[in-house]
This record gives sequence, structure tokens and C-alpha cells, in this order.
Amino acid sequence: MSLERSSWRTNLGFLLASIGSAIGLGNIWRFSYMAHQYGGGAFLVPYLVALLVAGIPIMILEYGLGHHEKASSPLSFVRISSRFEWLGWWMPVVAMFGIMLYYSVIIGWCVNFLIYSFSLAWGDDTQTFFFTNFLQLSDSPSNLGGIRLPILLATMSVWLACWFICFRDIRHGIEKASLIFMPVLFMLTIIIVGWTVSLEGASEAIFSHYLHADWTKINLFAADPQIRSEAGTVWAAAFGQIFFTLSLGFGIMITYASYLPKKTDISKNAFITCMVNCAYSLVAGLAVFGIVGFMAHSQGVAFEEAIKGGPQLAFVVYPKAISLLPGFNSLFGVIFFTMLVIAGLTSGVSLIEAFTCAITDKFDWPRRKVATAICILGFLGSIIFTTRGGLYVLDIADHFITNYALVVGGLLECLIIGWILKATVMRKHINRFGIGIHKTWAFFIKYTTPAVLIYLLYLSCASDLAKNYEGYTSSQLFTYGIGCLLFCLAVALVLTAYPWKPEKLKRRHRPEEDDLLV
Ligand code: PHE
Repeated sequence: MSLERSSWRTNLGFLLASIGSAIGLGNIWRFSYMAHQYGGGAFLVPYLVALLVAGIPIMILEYGLGHHEKASSPLSFVRISSRFEWLGWWMPVVAMFGIMLYYSVIIGWCVNFLIYSFSLAWGDDTQTFFFTNFLQLSDSPSNLGGIRLPILLATMSVWLACWFICFRDIRHGIEKASLIFMPVLFMLTIIIVGWTVSLEGASEAIFSHYLHADWTKINLFAADPQIRSEAGTVWAAAFGQIFFTLSLGFGIMITYASYLPKKTDISKNAFITCMVNCAYSLVAGLAVFGIVGFMAHSQGVAFEEAIKGGPQLAFVVYPKAISLLPGFNSLFGVIFFTMLVIAGLTSGVSLIEAFTCAITDKFDWPRRKVATAICILGFLGSIIFTTRGGLYVLDIADHFITNYALVVGGLLECLIIGWILKATVMRKHINRFGIGIHKTWAFFIKYTTPAVLIYLLYLSCASDLAKNYEGYTSSQLFTYGIGCLLFCLAVALVLTAYPWKPEKLKRRHRPEEDDLLV
């Protein structure tokens, strides 16, 4: 039985879904914290370079590949060469088992905090509330210490919502949801940003910490080797952030583009997706810096003391600031956490979709059953992150996935498309409809982007070998970090081992495109 492939109803639906995947929790706090840590406004330089050198070229590549093959990532890669099918699996498997399992739990925390917003249940000491009352954090990743029921229930509701969207075909599920969620997300963001910048102390912080540039932090040519090496880390972080924020290297954009009609302007769509996503980050940065500035101002402490990284920004700093607001505190909290939940859900469904589509492509099982089974399995897998030691596991898994799994996926993707399928062939396909991309694109894909990604991997390896990440023990890092990568690789290899139906491996015959086949 071969199932008819669904398609987007409108290009806008496709764009909003892709932008929805790109805009996620990472845009709101990951970007802002990085900007703060890595030189304020100066961080925007490596960020924009990364966008131009890796972000836009790889987005065009992923859209181009999905559109060319009309297939999920494993099927797209196996058609290039059966040697690369494992990579086609590796990407959605990492998306599903590497990222979505913990991403759903973070959205779950947002759901909990959305509910807490009504009564400002976090009280005065939001740090103690988050770590001790809410997470009941254990003393180490080796001590998982049992499940936290409120987190488990919220995570379950997240998986239910994702299932409700993903089990329908693309047009009636993800497209419809994106058409509703994305405009709401943009509206809520405008309200939060407008509200924040009007608070006392906000604009000062924005000007002196966000829009202010510390150029030494990004100076790769500094005479002092220490400064040079720190600058290297900043550049590496900017590239990592671009991959994460644009959802590249997961097979997601390949899958989304596979549902596009033949006549599509690939490069324009890629350009719009990247621009809207990065503009959103820049605007969200105003809200984050603004709120921290307001908090520092109202408590009379320095900005540096008020800002925190990682999950603490949303779950410690924000609740505190919300409590300090002069009025409508609960309303602000509800809007802020709803914004996070929506941003998270639209990214979450894309992670599930990449895997669901890959499985249905290979096994021809009905989509509804596949999506249901995947969501049940996914929920069961995320239980480990709902335990009292879950935050540690999450931290370690996230470190290894964003620094290695993602970068390796992107690197191999560039090399395979650039050298085996031939970047020029792909460029010809992309340029068939819509704005043409320049020859330098092929150059980026073949040389520049891979070179930068290899350097990035080198930096991550060097720093991880020099000292254990965040002081975790080697066995903890091995179990949750490398173990997670090996598990994903094993799943990818098992799925690769199962043979394809021969007719699947043939490209759909498109005589007008025969010249593109290699
Ligand atoms: N792009 C999303 C964000 O910035 C996260 C994400 C990563 C979503 C990978 C899908 C795939 O939060």
C-alpha cells in the first residue's frame, strides 16, 4: 500500500510552520543569555556571520533537498547513495530521542509556571522555589530520586497536545496549528516587549548591556592568545546557536519542504524563514534585557548580578521580575509563559514530524498509528527528565547534542550534498523557480561551512577533553551524554538495516528534471 503524500495548502502555511519550528525556547532565553555572556552587541557580529555563512546556505540546502526528493530525510539520502541512509536517520532520531524528550519537559515546566502565574505561587525567593520546591533537585545526576508528579502531568499534557496536532496529515495538523499559533505568538511577543521596555530601568539596561558592544570578546586576531581563544569560543557558540535556532541538521526542514508543490521559490522561503527567526530573537532580546534591567533597578542591584543563564532566566529571573511589577503581575506571567508554551509547541511538533514522516516513508504504516505510537514512546522516554535529577540529565544530554550531534549532522549534510550529489546540481534545481542563488552558495556548502563546522567540533572536543563539562564525573557524562549519542546512532543503524521497497528508491519520474539526476 502506498499512501498518498499530503501537501501544504498554502505557501504561507509552510512558512509559518517552518518559522514555528525555528522560533522556540532557544530564541527567547538561549539567544539573550549568549548575547549577554559573549560581548552584548558585539555578539551580533559572529551571529550574523554564522547566519550568512551557515544558516541561510544550509536552510536553502535542506529545503532544496526535501523539495527535490519529495521525501523525508532518510529517503532523500538513500536516493543519493545507500551509504548515507544512516545519516538520514541519524538526524530525525536525534531530533526525536535526543531533543524532543527533554524539550517536552521544558515546555511542561512552562505549563506549570503558567498555572503558578495566576497566584504568583513562586513567592519571594524564586530561586529556592524553582530548585527546591518545584524541581526538588537531587544532589547529582547519579541520583534520579523519583518522579515529580506536577512535571510528569504537565509533560503528559504537552505530548497530548503534540499528538493531537501530529496525528493528522500535514495540512490539517501542523499547517492549521501554525496558522493559529504563530500570529498569536507574534501578538503576545509584541505585548510583552512593549510592556517590558516601558518599565523603569529597562531601556537603560537595553542600551548599556544589549546594544553596547564589547569588541574584545570577538577579536579572533587579538595579540593576546587568551583573548583569541576566548573569541574562538564565542564564534563557535554563535554557529551552534544558529544551527539550534534555525532547527538545522535535524531533517526537519527537509521534511517540511518535501510537502511543497513543484513550483516553489526555495531560496526566497529559506531567506524569509531565517530572517524572521533571527529578527524574532533580536526583538525577544529587548524583552529579556529589559526585564532584567527592571529587576536590577527595582532591587537596587547591578545588572550582572540580576541576569542568570540557562533555565534560571525563565524560571527564576522572570518570576521574580513578574512579582516586582507595579501592576497586572499575573497577567504578565500568563502572557509570558503562554508565549513560551506556544513557541515550544510549534518547535516540538516539528521534531516529532521529522521522525513520523521518516517512519511512514519507510514502512508505509498509516500516519495516525505511527504518530500515536511515537508520542506514547516519546512520553515514556521523557519520564527520566521529570525526575528529581532530571535537570542534570537534561543539561548533559543537551550539551552533547547541540555541540556534537547537530554539528556532525550539518557537516556531513554539506559534504554529501556538496560533493556527492554536487552542489551545482542542487543549485540548478533550486534556481528553477524563483529568485536564483549565486554560485558562491555552492562554494559555501562545499568549503566554507564544512571548514567552520570542523573548527567548531575541534573547539568543543578540545574544551571537553581539557575538563569535564560543568564538573560532572566522566561516568555521568558517558552515561547521559555519549550514551545518548550512541543510543541514537544504534536506533539509526537498526532503522537503516531494514530494506526499502525498491519502488521507493526510484525518484518520481519528472522528465523535465532528468538532467538533475546523478
Ligand atoms: N529552534 C528551536 C529553538 O530555537 C529549537 C529546536 C531545535 C526545534 C531543533 C526543533 C529542532 O528553540
